[in-house]
Amino acid sequence: MRARPHRLERLPEQYFAALLARVAVAAARAGEPLLDLGRGNPDVPPPAHVVEALRAAALREDVHGYAPFAGLPALKQAVAARYRDVYGIAVDPEREVAVLPGSKTGLMEFAQVTVERGETIVLPDPGYPDYRSAVALAAAQLATVPLLADGRPDWDAAPARAAALYLNYPSNPVAAAAPEGVFEEALAWARRAGAWIVHDFAYGDLVFDGRPPRSFLAVDGASEHGLELFSMSKSYGMAGWRLGFAVGNAELVARIEDLQNHQFAGVFRPVQEAGIAALTGPQETVEERRALYQARRDRALAALRGRDARGEGTFFVWFRLPAGMSCERLLEERRVALAPGEGFGEHGRGWARLSLAVPDDVLDEGLARLAAAFT
Ligand SMILES: Cc1ncc(COP(=O)(O)O)c(C=O)c1O
Repeated sequence: MRARPHRLERLPEQYFAALLARVAVAAARAGEPLLDLGRGNPDVPPPAHVVEALRAAALREDVHGYAPFAGLPALKQAVAARYRDVYGIAVDPEREVAVLPGSKTGLMEFAQVTVERGETIVLPDPGYPDYRSAVALAAAQLATVPLLADGRPDWDAAPARAAALYLNYPSNPVAAAAPEGVFEEALAWARRAGAWIVHDFAYGDLVFDGRPPRSFLAVDGASEHGLELFSMSKSYGMAGWRLGFAVGNAELVARIEDLQNHQFAGVFRPVQEAGIAALTGPQETVEERRALYQARRDRALAALRGRDARGEGTFFVWFRLPAGMSCERLLEERRVALAPGEGFGEHGRGWARLSLAVPDDVLDEGLARLAAAFT
């Protein structure tokens, strides 16, 4: 067989695919039911009117051809309206919004459109594993910056020059809301380092305890330096639909659209129309989702008292494992799957990520098993 090309060889093991495979092997073994608190797959369906919009659109005959490659103008306008109404930010829908087949695609594209081979990309540690895939696919150099206790990067440890920086608030896996001033600090560093910034805002609306959702683009100068990636997956429970947006710098938006014109042929039109229904229709379900995850978060924090557990946002709780304990042991001995912290970076070692995107009874039983294992 011929060798795999270099850019595939550079790819790290896909963390979640490997985790799912390990959990499936454990689940197949005899024993009490395995509880999967490892993966973050939204468990609440999209609002009914959004599903209905998809259905109604799919029944039309004029929607099955190629949609406009760059997306429906009305969808971009809906994104701009949401940015205005929820985050108080003026966005030009024509020049400052790109329609993506899910924001994960944007994570990969951002590196492709900003970084030359061999330049440096700076990632948070711990951070979402797919950022490392973006570094590999762009043939870039990886630098990591540890997160301090409040979830802010330790800027003293950031390189003096870099081509790009990934940020993520609320953060997966550390469940930190954006600390005060973090975007301003990032911009100051990016100006010195000559770097573009992408802010992964996938959990933007899932922030708890009355904190307002904080967009990177609300900070002066943000759209000169980068993009924010907004996702329909978490706010509207549409993860499988694959719809997201890159919002911000017009030059980067144009570059992403250019790349996508070569790589994709647009998002299925009924999905885009349903996206408009989600963004412009009633928003109560966004709040209901937030409240549901917050209530689950409360129970998780109570069960994990003493474990430095954190859950300011996202649908995860991040906590420190007791000495000598590992996610492997919890999987084998307690049949509870968690996401091991080291998979998110060296600074995640000794920690674990627990998902709140599971039915209440699964969460409660899982928390009871963890509490029993930790006493
Ligand atoms: C931090 C983070 N960013 C991005 C994504 C990808 O979201 P999307 O479904 O929009 O591709 C996820 C999905 O789990 C995520 O956790």
